[in-house]
Amino acid sequence: MSADYVVHGSVAVITLNNPPVNGLGMATRSAAVEALRRAESDAAIKAVVITGAGKVFSGGADIREFNSPKALTEPTLHTLIATAENLSKPVIAAIHGVCMGGGLELSLGCHYRVASPGAQIGLPEVKIGLVPGAGGTQRLPRVVGLEQGLNMIVSGNPVLSEKLAETKLFDKVFAEGADLVASAVEFANGIADTRPLPKVRNLKVDYPNHEAFLQFSRNTVKAMAGAFPAPLECVECVAASVTMKFEDGLKYERDRFLALAQTTESKALRHAFFAERAASKVPDVPADTPTRSIAKAAVIGAGTMGGGIAMNFANAGIPVTILETKQEALDKGLATIRKNYENTVKKGKLTPEKAGQRIGLITGSLSYEDIAQADIVIEAVFEDLNVKETVFRQLDATMKPGAILASNTSTLDLDKIAAFTSRPQDVIGLHFFSPANVMKLLEIVRGKDTGKDVLATALALSKKIKKTGVVSGVCDGFIGNRMLEQYLRQAFFLLEEGVLPEQVDKAIERFGFAMGPFRMSDLAGNDIGWYIRKRRYIEQPDLEYSKVPDLLCEQGRFGQKTGAGWYDYKAGDRTAYPSPVVNELIMAQVQAAGGERRQVSDEEIVQRLVFALVNEGAKILEEGIALRASDIDMVYLTGYGFPLYRGGPMLYADTVGLPNVLETMRKFARGRHGDAWTPAPLLERLAGEGKGFND
Ligand code: NAI
Repeated sequence: MSADYVVHGSVAVITLNNPPVNGLGMATRSAAVEALRRAESDAAIKAVVITGAGKVFSGGADIREFNSPKALTEPTLHTLIATAENLSKPVIAAIHGVCMGGGLELSLGCHYRVASPGAQIGLPEVKIGLVPGAGGTQRLPRVVGLEQGLNMIVSGNPVLSEKLAETKLFDKVFAEGADLVASAVEFANGIADTRPLPKVRNLKVDYPNHEAFLQFSRNTVKAMAGAFPAPLECVECVAASVTMKFEDGLKYERDRFLALAQTTESKALRHAFFAERAASKVPDVPADTPTRSIAKAAVIGAGTMGGGIAMNFANAGIPVTILETKQEALDKGLATIRKNYENTVKKGKLTPEKAGQRIGLITGSLSYEDIAQADIVIEAVFEDLNVKETVFRQLDATMKPGAILASNTSTLDLDKIAAFTSRPQDVIGLHFFSPANVMKLLEIVRGKDTGKDVLATALALSKKIKKTGVVSGVCDGFIGNRMLEQYLRQAFFLLEEGVLPEQVDKAIERFGFAMGPFRMSDLAGNDIGWYIRKRRYIEQPDLEYSKVPDLLCEQGRFGQKTGAGWYDYKAGDRTAYPSPVVNELIMAQVQAAGGERRQVSDEEIVQRLVFALVNEGAKILEEGIALRASDIDMVYLTGYGFPLYRGGPMLYADTVGLPNVLETMRKFARGRHGDAWTPAPLLERLAGEGKGFND
C-alpha cells in the first residue's frame, strides 16, 4: 500500500499503488503526500505527474475507513488534495481505467488533467448514501458545467473520458493506444514553466437562470429519491457551487457528508455494498479454486422457472437447450420466452437484433441425447422428489463426465437428490427466484458432497449471469423461504385476532417492503404454501398454524391466477381489492376461536413479522446454514423486497438493538401462540454481550 516515485528528466511521476483499485486509504494518502513534498523540495523537479498503478487511476476513498477514525486521520483526503493544489510546481493527473469518487476529487485538485480514452469518470458516493466529501460537488460543476455535474453527482453513474474531452475537466484526452505516462510527461514538459498555475477553484459555474434549474432539479430528485436523503443533499451541494464562495461551498459539502455518514440509510447502503462482495467468498473455497468451463447449458422443464432460467444463459451469450417430456409443453415454454423478449423490445430495453440473437441461443428438445454434452444442466421440473429422482437418474446415465448437475428445488433435500446419482460431487442447488430472468437473487445450495470446484463455478456463473449469489447449506426452505415461513405464520396469526390483510400489507409496505405478505401470497399462489403446510402437519404435528389460509384455499382462492385470493381481482387487472368474503371468513374464525377482535398497532404488526424473520435468521446463522449475517441480509434485499434503506433484517435488528428485539419477543412469548417466540440462543447470547449480528 503505497505510492511509487520515479523521476523522468525533470518530471516526477508519482504512481498510486494500492491494488486492486488504488483506493486512497491512509497508507496511500501518506505516501502520496510525502512524494509530493519530496518533489516540491527537489530543485531539479519542474513538474509532477500523478497516475495509478495497474489498470486504474483510483477507485476512490477506502470505504472501510468510514466506520473508523482512520478516515479523519492526517493526512486526510482533503490534505492530500490541498498539498497537490498548493504545490508551487504544476501537478498533472494522468488518468486511465477508473477515476471515481476520491480519485476524481484528487485529480480535480491537480492543476491539469490528461486521460486515456475509455476511462470511467464519476462520483458514485450517492450510491452509498453520501455526497462526495472532498470537494467533488464544488469542483466538478466548475469544469463540466452545472447540468452535467449535477447529473453525474446525483446519479453516481460514470461517464467515459472521451465523452468529457471537450469540457474543462480534461486538458487532453490522448489517442487510443498512446502510452499514458510518456504522453503525460511530454505534456508536463510543455507546461512546466507556465504561471500562474491553473486551479479549478478559481473557475466560476456559469449558468443563466441557475435558480430555476436548481429548483426544477430539487423537485425531480425529491420525487425519485424515496426514503434516501443523499440525492437531494447532492443537489444542495451542487447549488452551493453556484451560490457560495468556494471555501464556503467546501465547508457546506463537508458538513453534509459528515451528517449523511451517520444516517441509517447510508449505513444500510454501505452494509449492502460490502455484503454483496462478502457473499461471493466462502472461507474454505479460496479465490484461486479452479472452476469448470461453462460454454453450453441445459435446463430440464420449460415451466414458470425453466424458461426464465434459460433466458439468463442466453442473455449471457451461453447457448442453452430446454428439455421437456411433451412437445406441447415445450412449445408453450418457448413461446413464453419469445413473448418475454418481444415485450422487452417493446419497452425499448433491447434492440430487435439483440433479442433475435438471444432467442437464437435457446433451443428445445425432448431427448436427453441432445443435452448430454452440456457443461451444466439445471433441473426445474415439478417439486416432487419422485419426479426429481427420475430426472437425476437419467442425467447421471447420460451427461458427460464433469457436467454440473443442478437443481432449482425450493424445499427438497439436495443431499437426497445428489444420492440419486453416482456423482454427488457434481450436484448443487441453484435456487432462482421468480421471475427467474429478472430477480437478482440466486441461492447456491451446497450439499454435503458438493465439490469445491463446483461451488466456485456456481459463484462465478452467478456473476456472469448478473445475479447475487448467496451460499446456503441444506435445510428445508434454505435461507430465504425458511425465514419467510415464520414471517407468514405471524401474518396469519394476526388474522385470528381480527386484523385484516390490508392492514397488515399497508403496515409492512409503509415499513418499506415492496409488497405486503398477503399481496405477495396472491401473486405467488396461495396453493404453494398450502401444499407445504399439509406436509408440515404430518412432519411436525405440534407446530401451530392459523387455519385461515387453509380455509381460504379450500374455497379455491389461490390468488391472482384464480382471480381471487386474500383480495378480489378484476379480469386483466392486478389491483388488489379488499374482499368482503375474506373479511367474513376472518371474522368467523375470530369467533370460532373464542377470541376477541383486538386493535393491533402498525408498529406491532411490523415487529411481529420482521422479528420473526430475525429470530429464524439467527437460527440459520447459528446452524451454519448461512455463512454470515450479511448473507441473510443480501437474500432479503435481493429476493424478498426488504427495504434497502434498512439494510436487511439482520442489520435492522442490530440498528434496533438486540436487547430491544429480545424484550419485544419475550412480550410476544407471553401472548397467544407464544411458542413461536422462543428466542434463538445466538440472539440471546449476542444481546447479552452487547453485540450485533454484523459485529
Ligand atoms: P412448473 O409446473 O411451471 O414447470 C415444471 C415443468 O417441468 C413443466 O413444464 C413440466 O412439463 C416439466 N416437467 C415435469 N416433469 C418433467 C420431466 N420428467 N422431464 C422434463 N420436464 C418435466 O413449475 P415451476 O414453478 O417452474 O417449478 C419448477 C421447480 O422450480 C420446482 O422444483 C419449484 O419448487 C422450483 N421453484 C419454483 C419457483 C416458483 O416461483 N414457481 C421459485 C423457485 C423455485
